[in-house]
Amino acid sequence: MKRIIIAIDGYSSCGKSTLAKALAKALHYAYLDSGAMYRAVTLFFLENNIDYNDPEKVTWALQHIEIHFERVDGQNCTFLNGVNIEQAIREMRVSQHVSPVATISSVRRAMVRQQQAMGNRRGIVADGRDIGTVVFPDAELKIFLTADPDVRTSRRHLELATKGIKADRNDIQHNLLERDQIDSNRSDSPLRQAADAVVIDNTLLSESQQLAQALAMAKEKM
Ligand code: CDP
Repeated sequence: MKRIIIAIDGYSSCGKSTLAKALAKALHYAYLDSGAMYRAVTLFFLENNIDYNDPEKVTWALQHIEIHFERVDGQNCTFLNGVNIEQAIREMRVSQHVSPVATISSVRRAMVRQQQAMGNRRGIVADGRDIGTVVFPDAELKIFLTADPDVRTSRRHLELATKGIKADRNDIQHNLLERDQIDSNRSDSPLRQAADAVVIDNTLLSESQQLAQALAMAKEKM
């Protein structure tokens, strides 16, 4: 079977990473969480009090940021300069700044370069906002996920609670909608459905149902 690239894009918290992780596991592929990389850059700015509206400071910061992924206790974890930041990047303070940070072209260029290097041997499932349009435009399978905003809010609320991160439901919904708005309207690599992407609306689908649909599509391409 051919090793392919699977690109999953879509709005905030619509289950992209759940689907991507499940697909990667089923196919023994690598998983690339591109959103975690933008979150890691954002955390670096926040922790070092860096004004990300200052281009010189952004350039300096990008030279001092090393991001990689490692499996810890069976979980895919994000590391920033050698420190496991998987929990910290999911907190609301990071969610509140990540979309403005992700509009910065120099940040995007640095992340996209690293993402493309990770996919050069194919056999990868990547999720984000610009995977099918910019990062891997030649991906064999492109999925655009959508779900009802109330359902997305409830899922994120539960996900954060499970991780021990406290957040108000209204704040979560406000943040999801605000990020969708910024991500869809930025000039560099806006969130778009690629022309050759298949749409899956998972509002009424269970995790196993959405996995079954996507796996069938992947096997056809392989
Ligand atoms: O998990 P959730 O869908 O809430 O977000 P995420 O995948 O962790 O991405 C966080 C933010 O990073 C998004 O709202 C975008 O602003 C940015 N992002 C991006 O610009 N491009 C990507 N390929 C992935 C994420």
